[in-house]
Amino acid sequence: MSQATNQSWGGRFSEPTDAFVARFTASVTFDQRLARQDIQGSIAHATMLARVDVLTDDERDAIINGLNEIQGEIERGEFNWSVPLEDVHMNIEARLTDKIGITGKKLHTGRSRNDQVATDIRLFMRDEIDVIEVELKRLREGMIELADREADTIMPGFTHLQTAQPVTFGHHILAWQEMLSRDHERLLDCRKRVNVMPLGAAALAGTTYPIDRHVTAELLGFDRPAENSLDAVSDRDFAIEFTSFASILLMHLSRMSEELVLWTSAQFNFIDLPDRFCTGSSIMPQKKNPDVPELVRGKTGRVYGHLMALLTLMKSQPLAYNKDNQEDKEPLFDAVDTVRDCLKAFADMVPAIEPKKTSMYEAARRGFSTATDLADYLVRKGVAFRDAHEIVGHSVAYGLKTEKDLSEMSLDELKQFSDIIEQDVFEVLTLEGSVAARNHIGGTAPNQVRAAAQRARDALSALKAGAA
Ligand code: ARG
Repeated sequence: MSQATNQSWGGRFSEPTDAFVARFTASVTFDQRLARQDIQGSIAHATMLARVDVLTDDERDAIINGLNEIQGEIERGEFNWSVPLEDVHMNIEARLTDKIGITGKKLHTGRSRNDQVATDIRLFMRDEIDVIEVELKRLREGMIELADREADTIMPGFTHLQTAQPVTFGHHILAWQEMLSRDHERLLDCRKRVNVMPLGAAALAGTTYPIDRHVTAELLGFDRPAENSLDAVSDRDFAIEFTSFASILLMHLSRMSEELVLWTSAQFNFIDLPDRFCTGSSIMPQKKNPDVPELVRGKTGRVYGHLMALLTLMKSQPLAYNKDNQEDKEPLFDAVDTVRDCLKAFADMVPAIEPKKTSMYEAARRGFSTATDLADYLVRKGVAFRDAHEIVGHSVAYGLKTEKDLSEMSLDELKQFSDIIEQDVFEVLTLEGSVAARNHIGGTAPNQVRAAAQRARDALSALKAGAA
């Protein structure tokens, strides 16, 4: 074997790899992040090979001990990653052979880097999904508790960002929570398709050794071996599914972020974020900037980009494995890190949101937010809705001119627009009356918000962590 070529596949080569090409094609600078899963997969593979008598028990033990030592070297930062050895798989295998000699070279029996790398990424994604799920649950719990605490807190609800009708702050937060409940379902659904084992597909067609893929799948905690070897080595749907989950989640977090940014502004003045989630300005001493939500909003772009990158990576690829697939890792790694950090930031921050109740209440009083309630009142007294709409329109015009909210007008003033209006109108013109009247499942009434929070709590605790 030529010393100058890669020792794992150099046998048929007559000249060494061009130095630039070696660097260009190597992935070890980033795929070393899969080392733990690579070792985990190799230990299961060796265990299975011994079970079917392809390896002796002694060979298996030497391999497993060697791999465990290598794991320690990597964790202690003592491992020497080599770019000429291309990737994480060949780096670890070469080190194993250094340590235990010829037996190390037997590990790759009945396996290829194609099924190996697909297995490693799936193990990695499964681990990361479980970490992400913990943060997502923590965030949902924080929202549910905040919503329950603020079930009576009144704020203006908006359409077109114009004051529409009063809602409760708890109801608004539970709307966020609903978005996340769908994200949670998508994550668990994605996990089901992550947790299928490619190992045993070998390069593309399977292997001539009497492997038992059920044993390996069980050792690695996979639900089942992948059904088709060609599909097993080439499928990256799970990566696309994860990044589409991540894109929708970040889209949701960006919407929440936008509202937090607006609400902390002097113009809205709806909430305070504790100082620990904000930073100041180096030039304007008065500033307290909502950096955390702004940054989460900004990070949405890179996650959408990763989804596009992976979709495009897979487009038109013929079966089975192609080197293109090496490009799946960096987008996935970054998507995983971004999602985990954004969820952590939100899970820490949301329970610390301090609503400025008086300010929200005053904002809801401005902007004629009970105009629909007045129209509904007239309808209950026999006025057709279209006529009621017009009557209220006139009273709003009058309010704009006189700078009075509907609830601030006297009965006589209101009677100018319809003599059907009586003293009892003031019950519906109050903000409390307005929200309490929307008293049905999914409505903003405080008792409905508390009931919805309880249902959300129950639904969340019914989900088992990591269970698909
Ligand atoms: N580094 C490669 C990847 O990330 C591993 C598989 C390489 N397989 C091959 N036949 N070159 O996909």
